[in-house]
Amino acid sequence: MSAVVSEELRVVPLNVPIGAEIQGVDLSRDIDRGVMRQIEAAYDRHSVLVFRDQRLTPEQQIRFSGFFGPLEIHVLKAYLLQGHPEILVVSNIRDDEGRFIGLPDAGQTWHTDTSYRQKPSRGSVLYALEIPHAPDGRPLGDTLFAGTAPAYDDLSPEMKAMLAGKKAVHSYGRRKRVPGSQRAKLTREQLDQTPDVAHPVVRTHPNTGRKALYVFSGECTGIEGMPEARALELIAELTEHCIRPEYIYRHVWRRGDVVMWDNAATLHLATPDYELPQRRLLHRTTIEGGVPR
Ligand code: SIN
Repeated sequence: MSAVVSEELRVVPLNVPIGAEIQGVDLSRDIDRGVMRQIEAAYDRHSVLVFRDQRLTPEQQIRFSGFFGPLEIHVLKAYLLQGHPEILVVSNIRDDEGRFIGLPDAGQTWHTDTSYRQKPSRGSVLYALEIPHAPDGRPLGDTLFAGTAPAYDDLSPEMKAMLAGKKAVHSYGRRKRVPGSQRAKLTREQLDQTPDVAHPVVRTHPNTGRKALYVFSGECTGIEGMPEARALELIAELTEHCIRPEYIYRHVWRRGDVVMWDNAATLHLATPDYELPQRRLLHRTTIEGGVPR
């Protein structure tokens, strides 16, 4: 296995405040540590990285993702890839018995991955094996990313002062379900594994020191010390602010894409604009993170 030399790597920023395409790297190879460090620097700086035309086995995806930290095993065990529990299958495809082979409605509300954990995920790596298309050939199932650091920067000084030190409650068990969701309800065991947790509404990135909003409707059910109605109103206002068009990168998928994002600096949203026989199949690895501060 040959190592990639660093001169091949190109970081091409996308034309939005977040996101960059990384060119010249084959993620299936055992990549030189110097190149990996350049990728990590680009990841911290741009929050979303896109790698085109990749061809990865589960082992190769796990090895690449594992450079950035230990990998989480998702609580929804039914959707873990057989033999590779580090991979969460995201898919609308059904098996011969009619069961979904993956999580059919992953990410269909704005969120950041596993924020309901004491130590939420640092980042996620999503690899596209099958992408649905419209009859005219247009790709479907785009994923949108919102930069929560530029969104924080643009808040008024009064709002920044008001949010300082506040903590929002993140709840996996009480989060809003996607309308028409076909996902099984959480079991007692899964609920016990995911108790509510409070995290700072404004978090400081552990590597860059940059502040970002870390709050969103649906999964955040309150703000500590604030009446519920006022808290929900504020959470909705901050979510609307984060998802303004100027903070968004919209990823239009191609088979073979690998997209990785920083869960400390982005929200994301999947677009459910396809249905069988339009098939969508992606493999997600989720990198452990630290306690948000
Ligand atoms: C996710 O939220 O991890 C899935 C995003 C997607 O399927 O586009």
